[in-house]
Amino acid sequence: MTDPRPSPSEITTTLQALYEKYLPLRDGKLADYIPELTKADPDHFGISVATVDGKIYEAGRAQIPITLQSVSKPFVYGLALEDLGPAAVHEQVGMEPTGEAFNSIIELEKESHRPYNPMINAGALAVTNLIRGSGPADKLGRILKLFSRYAGHPVHLDGSVFVSERSSGHRNRAIAHLLRHFGRMGPELDENLDLYFQQCSILFSTTDMALMAATLANGGVQPITRDRVLARANLRPLLSLMFTCGMYDSSGEWAFHVGLPAKSGVSGGILAVVPGKMGIAVTSPLLDSSGHSVRGHAVFRELAERWNLSLFDMGGA
Ligand code: DON
Repeated sequence: MTDPRPSPSEITTTLQALYEKYLPLRDGKLADYIPELTKADPDHFGISVATVDGKIYEAGRAQIPITLQSVSKPFVYGLALEDLGPAAVHEQVGMEPTGEAFNSIIELEKESHRPYNPMINAGALAVTNLIRGSGPADKLGRILKLFSRYAGHPVHLDGSVFVSERSSGHRNRAIAHLLRHFGRMGPELDENLDLYFQQCSILFSTTDMALMAATLANGGVQPITRDRVLARANLRPLLSLMFTCGMYDSSGEWAFHVGLPAKSGVSGGILAVVPGKMGIAVTSPLLDSSGHSVRGHAVFRELAERWNLSLFDMGGA
């Protein structure tokens, strides 16, 4: 079995070639249900690879930060696993894909009254509700510290995106009220919604996202700072749910074409984990109908093909 790890010059050349190939692709739409996100530049496009030995490769606007949005979900789920352990977390949230949109309310109402998984909005709201802390400021501080450790430097919120989502996030409010109705959220509902909107508003560059994915690829240890951010035991739950649920109702198609644990966000970020090898991130805000970056999806499909990245490629040609 050959090692499919691409050489440094192959990575550099490929990232630049894919950037140039897909920059002219203008399919998809900006997310508009969070008003502030309509201000995004449709031509923002960055691609980054971070290897488990701490090397960074970039093309395009890889250092310009955008908000994480749902890319934050697996990592806050990881924090809940560290705080409470998998058994207590999964009393509140399941581990099954939904086949529904990320912000669907249907399955919560219709069936178990427990969110299906931590990657959809209902599950993420339930998980954020579990984060330990003495109050809202302490909890937000813990979340910001967590993301700073993944990035390897202090990170901050985009206050305008937070305020925009807080004032327009009626669907998330409805989900939170249903969770409250079913006894899965306490009276601190508004504080918890704020915390969720805040985690979605954390600013990360494409390279920060690649480093966050590389930390998971490296067994939970940040490749540059050598900081253990996630216990090894928590990797399997986190990566398996990214694999089965991270791309929502197109998780099956993603598994078929790319074959890696991944997570997307409506501001246009997608990151994916190549276990033992690297983290990859692409940011570009024009989205397909499932809420994934169109350019991001195209780049990942081509990278997976070229570098035999799928978990099921068995080492490549
Ligand atoms: O809660 C929301 O709707 C957004 N803050 C995040 C959704 C999201 O990123 C879905 N991802 N593709």
